[in-house]
Amino acid sequence: MISTMVDVEKYGPWAVIAGGSEGVGAALAQQLADAGINLVLVARKPGPLAEIAADVAARGVEVRAVQQDLLEPDALDRVREVTDGLDVGLFIYNAGSNTYRGEFVDSDPAGVQGVLDLNITAPLAFTRHYGTRLKQRGRGGLMLLGSVGGFVGYGNIAVYAAAKAFLRIFAEGLWVELQPHGVDVLELCLGPTRTPAMDRLGMKFDAPGMKASDPADVAREGLAHLADGPSWIADGFFPDAEAKAGFPRAEIVGAIAAQYRAMSGT
Ligand SMILES: NC(=O)c1ccc[n+]([C@@H]2O[C@H](COP(=O)([O-])OP(=O)(O)OC[C@H]3O[C@@H](n4cnc5c(N)ncnc54)[C@H](OP(=O)(O)O)[C@@H]3O)[C@@H](O)[C@H]2O)c1
Repeated sequence: MISTMVDVEKYGPWAVIAGGSEGVGAALAQQLADAGINLVLVARKPGPLAEIAADVAARGVEVRAVQQDLLEPDALDRVREVTDGLDVGLFIYNAGSNTYRGEFVDSDPAGVQGVLDLNITAPLAFTRHYGTRLKQRGRGGLMLLGSVGGFVGYGNIAVYAAAKAFLRIFAEGLWVELQPHGVDVLELCLGPTRTPAMDRLGMKFDAPGMKASDPADVAREGLAHLADGPSWIADGFFPDAEAKAGFPRAEIVGAIAAQYRAMSGT
């Protein structure tokens, strides 16, 4: 196993991961634990949360598991009950894969709102809180998980892609604001990645010509590049993001629509 270099003075002694029980969140937790950073892990399902908490504790660090839905109005207060007394050097907002699919005009407003709350409302509330603390502390890091899907519009997941675009632009502005205060901001931008959430969604990552990342690889890359914000596009997906962001838009958006239909089976 390749170990990850993490500046413990800057990003330790505690890290908080919102969505820290599965996939990339679990890999980030394991690698931070291996670097000697204690962890607060937040997620909903008690099984995977208990499993990763035991795993990271066995790596020799302290861990607090918080079973909490980030969409509940008191989510930040509940997490703060655990973290207010801890010296937090790194906050990671990982939760955020798409939770609602369908054409927007026929959509259920509550389903759409859930996507916005998980990808915009909650990350803003958590980032405001931990960003304030880190700014006062004068050192640390904030990582937000983004997607190459946030560089282009997609049918059926139009709101998800737009929310990821919001998060990326938000991270850029925050990076400008917090840089003078010794706080690194990084949007870790992923391409398709083999996580339990993607398995549950039935994503077909084995389609011809398709490349999908391993959660441990992208986690390692993100931690190694915490200070290289505002955005880091993981696992060689930079040309893909660049192409999605290009022109002419009709051509690019149309080509992506066909590709997504093949991958998602929609
Ligand atoms: N996987 C990909 O192909 C891919 C591609 C591009 C970008 N990304 C981004 O990478 C991040 C991680 O994605 P992922 O595929 O691992 O899926 P995910 O569904 O975002 O799950 C990641 C973690 O978040 C937790 N979580 C999800 N919803 C939550 C909620 N409402 N409250 C509390 N915790 C919650 C999950 O545990 P519980 O379910 O137990 O709560 C899990 O620990 C996301 O932001 C996603 O948009 C992923």
